[in-house]
Amino acid sequence: MSHVFPRHTKSELPIAAGGEGCYLIDSTGRRYLDCGDAAVSCLGHSNAAVVKAVQEQVEQIAFAHTGFMTSEPAEALADLLIEYAPGDLDRVYFVSGGSEATEAAIKLARQYYLETGQPERRHVIARRQSYHGNTLGALSAGGNEWRRAQFAPMLIEMTHIAPCYEYAEKTEGESSFDYGQRVANELEAEILRLGPGTVMAFMVEPVVGATLGAVPAVEGYFTRIREICDKYGVLLILDEVMCGMGRTGHLFACDHDGIAPDILCIAKGLGAGYQPIGAMLCSGRIYDAICEGSGFFQHGHTYIGHPVATAAALAVVRELTSRDLPARAGVMGDKLQTLLESRFGQHPNIGDIRGRGLFRALELVSDRETKAPFDPSRGVAASIKKAAMAEGLICYPMSGTRDGRNGDHVLLAPPFIIEEEQLTELVDKLDRAITSVI
Ligand SMILES: Cc1ncc(COP(=O)(O)O)c(C=O)c1O
Repeated sequence: MSHVFPRHTKSELPIAAGGEGCYLIDSTGRRYLDCGDAAVSCLGHSNAAVVKAVQEQVEQIAFAHTGFMTSEPAEALADLLIEYAPGDLDRVYFVSGGSEATEAAIKLARQYYLETGQPERRHVIARRQSYHGNTLGALSAGGNEWRRAQFAPMLIEMTHIAPCYEYAEKTEGESSFDYGQRVANELEAEILRLGPGTVMAFMVEPVVGATLGAVPAVEGYFTRIREICDKYGVLLILDEVMCGMGRTGHLFACDHDGIAPDILCIAKGLGAGYQPIGAMLCSGRIYDAICEGSGFFQHGHTYIGHPVATAAALAVVRELTSRDLPARAGVMGDKLQTLLESRFGQHPNIGDIRGRGLFRALELVSDRETKAPFDPSRGVAASIKKAAMAEGLICYPMSGTRDGRNGDHVLLAPPFIIEEEQLTELVDKLDRAITSVI
């Protein structure tokens, strides 16, 4: 009998025993093509450079508390991230995962406004159908009703505007551009409703991951969002925890949209699964306000800036940049899109095939014409997850796509090292899994 407290008490899980490139291997020797449990593995499971970096760092110095010492890998990683980071992002605050990054971002936004003499700024606006993590602050920002519901009485009050979800929410006759402007303008309306001097930040995923299934915004949306934030002095926090670190074809996902945030959150692909690590990057202006004010950010966890975690991430980012892997994610992602379209483009129950780079999704519907979702009681996403595992494929099906309850999608986020024949293997296995369920 196990003493591990699992995610689901009724599931029986295989034991992960090994990893080789894009495959996970269980204790019976069975191989699973890892196409994105949660979009972590960008380099596959046996990257020699990252493994070596971890081993060498543990041997040199495993831990030194950041209240007393900094470390070489943390310094080098911060330099490297800032070299590539968009806009005037200038400082990196290391944490141990995505929720810690978004949580820190929310607190930094608040402290920035205290340091600059605007204590009335306290509201965070985010979007419906978003996910920013599971700690209470991050969950408050998230806009997925199912994830929030049971903790609702404990959440911080934050408000949510519409996502930019063209497939389901653009009205007939409306152009993509006009739709994007309309939903971006909801931000301005919400700022005015709350009182412009009271809003501190808008938090958004550049490409929505877990809750919508690889949904990028339409052209012009983020330009308008940036304009609105600038007009009202609202900090733009981009959550690139899932879509960042090269997954969408750019090291930073917002590079595609040609805008830069004031605060940016990354995790998942930053450690590529070799170590738990996340980071919050902020602009020089925000850092200077803290520096010239109280001099310290009133936050922190024991393991921030962990030498082994930062050494692993340093090796990961070096791999990503020196091998131009984000560009490869772009090229292989286009190939995956073509394969998905040729296999599922006419499927009666697949309404949309979307995404950017190696961050793709299929949205499942009961009727392609009306785009009506399946009855949630059918549990389509959960069944596909199980069927895909049985086929030797790890992907990320999720339900509640439309409103937290209705809708299903399958998210695909393979490692950037994936080869063409493995893309075919992915589509074949997914096809068999979907066919067995629907
Ligand atoms: C966009 C986004 N933000 C935050 C998080 C939370 O990250 P973590 O699970 O590492 O705490 C996730 C996790 O899926 C995510 O997708």
